[in-house]
Parts: sequence; C-alpha cells; structure tokens
Amino acid sequence: MFLSRCELEPRLPGLQALVLVYHQRRPQNRSHRTPTHPPSLAQPAQVSHSLRSVLTDAPRPTRLRYWNLTHKLREEKIPMPETLCPICEGAGLRVVERADGTRAAQPCPCRIARRSSRMIEQARIPQRYAHCTLDEYVTNFAGANRSLATALVQARNFVRAYPFETNGNGLLLTGSIGVGKTHLAVGMLQALVADRGAKGLFFDYRDLLKQVQNSYNRNVDVTELEILAPVFEAEVLVLDELGASKPTDWVWDTVAHILNTRYNDRRTTIITTNYANLAPLAADQSSARSSVREETLGDRIGERMRSRLQEMCVVVEMTGEDFRQKVKRASFA
Ligand SMILES: Nc1ncnc2c1ncn2[C@@H]1O[C@H](COP(=O)(O)OP(=O)(O)OP(=O)(O)O)[C@@H](O)[C@H]1O
Ligand SMILES: [Mg+2]
Ligand SMILES: [Zn+2]
Repeated sequence: MFLSRCELEPRLPGLQALVLVYHQRRPQNRSHRTPTHPPSLAQPAQVSHSLRSVLTDAPRPTRLRYWNLTHKLREEKIPMPETLCPICEGAGLRVVERADGTRAAQPCPCRIARRSSRMIEQARIPQRYAHCTLDEYVTNFAGANRSLATALVQARNFVRAYPFETNGNGLLLTGSIGVGKTHLAVGMLQALVADRGAKGLFFDYRDLLKQVQNSYNRNVDVTELEILAPVFEAEVLVLDELGASKPTDWVWDTVAHILNTRYNDRRTTIITTNYANLAPLAADQSSARSSVREETLGDRIGERMRSRLQEMCVVVEMTGEDFRQKVKRASFA
C-alpha cells in the first residue's frame, strides 16, 4: 500500500529502496516496538542533508514511514549509510527493475565502496604503506631488475586466482632491503580485500611477537589467544619481515604455531623477508666463519619451519637496489 505511494515520489529513490528492502527482509511474525509519533527530521542522524530537505517537503505519512523504516532497519542491523550519494540519496540501496518487470532493492555502488574501505581499515595496514597498491608498483624505471616485473605478474595472477585456484597457499616474497616486498604484499592485500572480498590483516612480525610476549605481562589485560585469534582467523594474513626478531626457541614455537594453524586451516599467508630462503649453515662450519656470514631464513625461524614454508607458499625472489635510495631519492633531484 505504502509502496505505491513511494513510487509516486520519484525524488525519493532511497526511500523506495528502503521500503522494498524492508518488505523483502522483514522477519515474519516478529513484533516491533513501533514509535507512536514521528520525531523531528533530525533523526535518525544518518539521514543525508539532501534527503532530509526533500523529506521536509514530503507529506507527513511519508515522513512517518521513512522514520519507521530506518528505525526498523537499524533494529534489524541492516546498515544505514552516512554520506550523501546522488544515486541512492544516502539510503545505500537502489531500486532496479528485473527482466520480468518486478522491482528489487540492491546495494548501491556507494555502499559497496564503503564496505570495501571499511574492510581495508580492518586490515590494519600501517599508514606508511596505505599508498601501496599493485597499480602503483612500477617496474619500468631505469635499471629496474626483471625480477620485479615477474613478481608483479605473479602478484596479479595470485589475486586473480584467489581463492579457488590458490587453495590456501600463499606467497613468500624474498629480497634485499627496499626492493618493494612490503609494497607488493600490501598491494595484494588491498586487491584481495577490495576485489575479492577477502578479510585481510596486516601484521609486522616483530610487533606480533612483541604483543604476544607482552600478553604474559601481569599488568596487561589481554591474553595470548586474544592477540592470536584474529591472526588465525584472517582469511589473508600479511606477515611482514619474517625472521626480523631475534631467534629463540620461544620465537620458533610461536611462529610454528601461527603458520601451522593457518596452514592446517588452509588460510592464505603472504610473507615478506629480508633473509635468503636458505637452510642454516651446516653445524660443522667454524663459528668464526658463521659470525661473518649472512644469516639465512633457516637461521632465523628454524629449518623445520622454513621447509614447511616451501609447501605453504610460492616463493617469489625479488632482486634489485633499494628503491628508497635509488628511485625515490633521484626524483627529488
Ligand atoms: N617497484 C616499486 N614501485 C613503486 N614504489 C616502490 C617500488 N619498490 C619500492 N617502492 C616504494 O619504496 C618504499 C620501500 O619499499 P618497501 O618498503 O616495499 O621495500 P621492502 O622490500 O619491503 O624493504 P625492507 O626490506 O626495508 O622491508 C615504499 O615506499 C614503496 O612504496
Ligand atoms: Mg618491508
Ligand atoms: Zn549510493
């Protein structure tokens, strides 16, 4: 009944969509607390300015209906958007006509965009890497090593193949300082979240271990499990700078626990490391020699875990100079 009234209100596309979605999703036989009179149009706060001004001129039953609907949608936890959009006037929904002539409410593109930016926020990508997307990753600067272009292709293919063909496997990005490992890992994370709808999480390896260790401190009101739960549960985890913490038995156990749990649950882990993807130097090497040699990933996380990583991840080797020194600095000259 009211629907037909809204259809006569072409200036209220958001309202039409709300009415539709309410009728489509209303639980049967569920009693609602119905407000007895419409409050001022300042409520609900989410109503956009433009919609509010249109509503001010609308007949009283329209306003009452709008308020009731937003109230009920909120009760049913169907999110109301905050910002104005020219397509949906802030309702987050738009009415589309199906092939058979019936009408249905669909999420507006503005709502889809808001959802993906919320998910990016939830991925907790540090501000300094927020600009790191696959599109921003350049491979054609003077002197660029070919391995960077190959790595970018692998990253893009990975995003395209996720989640079915990747089947829970991840990537291990290795290379020296500043070749763009973190940039590429974050770029993949952003693409997986925005384009593939994955729930992602970024963690610096040292921060993660520090937080876990800190949870044993009596004065800290958070348990190890509370810190690790999101790490276990994230569909895609970026673990940046694997091996950067001082290797100890405790560190090895914690890393093994995290990586094994994720592997068993077939969850994707994207890892970056500065250490060469090699076994530890043989034990019979002289200690004098081992003190000058470069440490390997095997030294830093233990050989068992390193070899497990080869099963979990496709290894992407990146070679080149420090981008910060070479390209970024040159661009200021
Ligand atoms: N190929 C590239 N295209 C665009 N920006 C790049 C590229 N490589 C690196 N950068 C930029 O250079 C900076 C350093 O890159 P990044 O932090 O990803 O390197 P890294 O290999 O992770 O270094 P580290 O070993 O120190 O962790 C970042 O700001 C990143 O955005
Ligand atoms: Mg890095
Ligand atoms: Zn919209």
